Amino acid sequence: MQDTSAPSHELPTSFFFVTCQRGAESAVKWEMSQLRPEWHFAFSRPGFLTFKLPPGAELAENTSLPLVFARAFGVCWGKIKAPTLAEGKVALAKELKGEAFERLHVWNRDLLPAGDFRYEPRRSEEAMEVERTLLLQEDGEEPTLTIKQPDSTATLGDRVLDVILVEPDEWWYGCHRMTGAHLPWPGGLSGMPLPAHAVARTYLKMAQALEWSKLPIKEGQWCAELGSSPGGASQALLDRGLSVIGIDPAEMAPEVLNHPQFVWLQKRSTQVRKRDLRKIRWLMADMNVAPSYTLDAVEGILESSQVRLRGILITIKLPDWKLIEEVPGYLERVRSWGFPKVSAKQLQFNRQEFTVTAFRNPGPPAQSRYQRKRRSKRGRRTA
Ligand SMILES: C[S@@+](CC[C@H](N)C(=O)[O-])C[C@H]1O[C@@H](n2cnc3c(N)ncnc32)[C@H](O)[C@@H]1O
Repeated sequence: MQDTSAPSHELPTSFFFVTCQRGAESAVKWEMSQLRPEWHFAFSRPGFLTFKLPPGAELAENTSLPLVFARAFGVCWGKIKAPTLAEGKVALAKELKGEAFERLHVWNRDLLPAGDFRYEPRRSEEAMEVERTLLLQEDGEEPTLTIKQPDSTATLGDRVLDVILVEPDEWWYGCHRMTGAHLPWPGGLSGMPLPAHAVARTYLKMAQALEWSKLPIKEGQWCAELGSSPGGASQALLDRGLSVIGIDPAEMAPEVLNHPQFVWLQKRSTQVRKRDLRKIRWLMADMNVAPSYTLDAVEGILESSQVRLRGILITIKLPDWKLIEEVPGYLERVRSWGFPKVSAKQLQFNRQEFTVTAFRNPGPPAQSRYQRKRRSKRGRRTA
């Protein structure tokens, strides 16, 4: 947590950095042009971008922007050359002039587009080694680098030192104050391993989305997943004690199919009878279809008087990056379903897609269509 007893002063800068999935740079640029049209794109390498504020303007460390396609962002102070780890450490500490931070985040920009040659964005061994070196403060070592918490997972308000290995020997550095728009892990990259029993990598996609979203999901509740085959995400839900209705015409993995809390409806989302979903409180979707198809399918279930949902966790695929301009409209549509809080992010285990979550607090029991009809008839009679 932020140490308010010893506030650190801010180093002035007029630059802002973003790291994102390789290939998502144009999406980030478009989002920035909408949110901060007065800032100018300054520099980029695949997966890393900087923006410059207008002359005379300074960027505050607690700057927070609802960027869907940024996995990490913050103020950018510059770059140093690091021919060796030791030289990099000295150069960085000199630049930081005794500033203190709660956390240290060190990561590399993505090495490949997500999914190419089965590449999963993760922190590299080099990034881990730089982190270990920077955290190790020997007695009497000068200049000092002050990181108060060795654990890198940030909590709200933390002042985080960001070190990005744009090249192994070229470290860009900056800082952010952890807000709700930031991910808590270095570069938005968690070290979550794929469990040995997982039937697909989508296990991680769901596990991370649940951790990020903090949806108030409880053990024993029912959920449904549209597009559940082969079953990685369903497994992550089952492992958290949920009962799952998987909806997909394609085959499920036997490990998932045989789970006592799993029910398979071998159907398309459009063929499901709403009464078969009466028990569900959460709706997940991960279908390889156009965004409007996913949104129509979710809306169809939400509108049914037979289903009382607390929230949704859906993946929206962007088959073409040009669809980025439609993203605000997709989110507006989700808000229009009566969810006070809607969050959207392209997470570490997302491919060319992003995750949307939304939930509401439990309200009075929903009325069935029959109850609504009776009530309106009674109203007409007494009028
Ligand atoms: C990315 S995969 C889902 C991965 C799955 N969530 C997992 O964790 O293993 C996309 C799935 O969407 C399914 N799908 C496509 N259109 C669908 C529809 N209209 N209704 C249900 N499933 C659909 C496909 O059959 C495919 O299995």
